Amino acid sequence: MPTRERACRWNPHPAQGFEQRPPQLASARVGGSARHLHPHPFSRPRLQLLKILVLHILHVLAASLTLGLCLGLAFVVVPRSRRLGDAAATRAALASVLKVIDPALIALLGVLVMTGAYQVTGLKQDLGFEYFTSFAQHFASKLGLAFLVVMAGTWLSMGIGHRLVREEGYGEPPEAARINSLAARLRGAAISVALLLLATITFSLRH
Ligand code: HEM
Repeated sequence: MPTRERACRWNPHPAQGFEQRPPQLASARVGGSARHLHPHPFSRPRLQLLKILVLHILHVLAASLTLGLCLGLAFVVVPRSRRLGDAAATRAALASVLKVIDPALIALLGVLVMTGAYQVTGLKQDLGFEYFTSFAQHFASKLGLAFLVVMAGTWLSMGIGHRLVREEGYGEPPEAARINSLAARLRGAAISVALLLLATITFSLRH
């Protein structure tokens, strides 16, 4: 019995018969089997499918790691460092973690943007005009959210985190008020990035 399918990432042309599909999809026909009669995730050339899958996994993995990193910074690293009491010890503890977290955060944001952009190219090719009539409508809002994530993440890493690492490295005299203020800003920025990430992830999953 024929099933009614929605256009999706894996099967962008469900209404058309297999033979009318674009040549890059038709070429995936498995000789002798009835697989081509049913829209199926593996009805596309395997290498292309693998590429989509790897990009998708990397994209979602980068989003999850970035979220974990920000939550860890806000709810574990900063509170623990502040509990040390002494300004010099707080700065040293924060700097030792930020030395790793700062570049990691920038790298993860880069992976998010690059894997997202690569997926867009494939989607344009697959969806054709439908890309503009359905997908791109929501995608503009998603890109707006992603832009805010990248801006806030860069501010967290380069604007606050790197300043603390640099002051520690240069051995500047630790002023309690200043270090407290930087730690509070660091936590606020990490929470903001985490919230923006959650909004972007929720939006991506719902559209
Ligand atoms: C920076 C924060 C970002 C986050 C947190 C994020 C999150 C996500 C998530 C969770 C998905 C999976 C959705 C699903 O499986 O249904 C996804 C898919 C996707 N994202 Fe992102 N993303 C971000 C940035 C970007 C950027 C900058 C681009 C493009 C330049 C992009 C393009 C895409 C595309 C094309 C998909 C696949 C949509 C589909 O296959 O239907 N993303 N994103």
